[in-house]
Amino acid sequence: MKKAIAILGLTTALAGASQAGAVTVTLACGTVGQELQLCKEGAARWAKKTGNTVKIFESPNLTNDRLGLYQQQLAAKSSDIDVYQLDVIWPGLLSQHFVDLKGKIPASEVNTHFKGIVAANTVGGKLVSMPWFTDAGLLYYRTDLLKKYGYNAPPKTWAEMATMARKIQSGEQKTNKGFAGFVFQGKNYEGLTCNALEWVSSFGGGTIVDDSGKVTINNAKAALALDTAAGWIRDISPRGVTTYGEEEARGIFQSGNAAFMRNWPYAWALGQSDDSKVKGKIGVAPLPAGVGGKPAATLGGWNLGVSQYSKNQAAAIDLVRYLTGPAEQKIRAIEGAYNPTITTLYQDKAILAKNPFFGSLYSVFTNAVARPSGPTKSKYNQVSQAFSTAVSSVLNGNTKGQAAVAKLNTDLARIKGRGW
Ligand code: GLC
Repeated sequence: MKKAIAILGLTTALAGASQAGAVTVTLACGTVGQELQLCKEGAARWAKKTGNTVKIFESPNLTNDRLGLYQQQLAAKSSDIDVYQLDVIWPGLLSQHFVDLKGKIPASEVNTHFKGIVAANTVGGKLVSMPWFTDAGLLYYRTDLLKKYGYNAPPKTWAEMATMARKIQSGEQKTNKGFAGFVFQGKNYEGLTCNALEWVSSFGGGTIVDDSGKVTINNAKAALALDTAAGWIRDISPRGVTTYGEEEARGIFQSGNAAFMRNWPYAWALGQSDDSKVKGKIGVAPLPAGVGGKPAATLGGWNLGVSQYSKNQAAAIDLVRYLTGPAEQKIRAIEGAYNPTITTLYQDKAILAKNPFFGSLYSVFTNAVARPSGPTKSKYNQVSQAFSTAVSSVLNGNTKGQAAVAKLNTDLARIKGRGW
């Protein structure tokens, strides 16, 4: 694993004023959008304050790749990384490798965060990680183009979205051949699980596996949701959308080449930056509803946990407390549109001024739909891979929704075995 660190790690030492007893802590940061930059800056502020040093471990972009790398590190009981950035779906999978933060971080501090997110970070009573930022799927749209083509509000249903996207796309393609109606995360990975859960849930087709652990995916509403999404390909979405992750979709939208985009909140800050072609022309709305359903946003987000194998646990815990605290969450919200997990920050004027949708779409964040990582525990990753693979085969035209959900039902029953 040393090798992987050398290749992917590109470690940067952020030293503060030297101090007796100062230690070096390695922090694994994400690299999507501005993640790395903001992570480095936050770590540098802590280093300066404490006199310790932080080394940054650059993690891969896709959450699946991060998980693979982290699992290797943790299985080897490596002490190379002290603080890990954990996806909200991982605590069940990785809990045994992390320090129980309960009692180490005062309850009064933990309780400032959304209860549901703290619960997602708690496995069998153990607080595996501290909430850092939360995510929910959003519909981004071009306010200027909606107006140009005669629409005065974003779409409320997927059918309306497709009609609007088709009209805007055909008009814009007269001068811009590559213009797309709708871009999303269609590559076969965790991001597709998030997108497809939104489609299925918004059609009233459930959450793949319900809270009691029952597999629920084999239903007509879920099948219709997948067929609807497959119908977008080559109509309002380019064929290539089946290879897009978050950053590919953002690249197209931000360069002015798409009318609608499904993405997480971070895309807002970058879309409004000075070098963005769509600065001042972006609207954010809840994702549309399916036939007879309600809009659904998948719950995402990232948390910070301290490795059991860390040789500097006290300093690592202090770094986690600092980074997940209100001052840092405020900076990250203002500079990067990373949604705070501390409830009171949603009343902060400076944060709301920079991200008006944190206020107007507050209920989208608090009602986001969780992936079934709770009920499926350590098997979640297999469940998600089976789901995204089934969805991918529908998007690629290899199978139809009904056949895909029926096969998935069998696959999930096999993965479940005698229980999750
Ligand atoms: C975002 C979400 C995370 C999700 C990932 C999928 O990073 O915060 O929860 O797993 O996207 O690509």
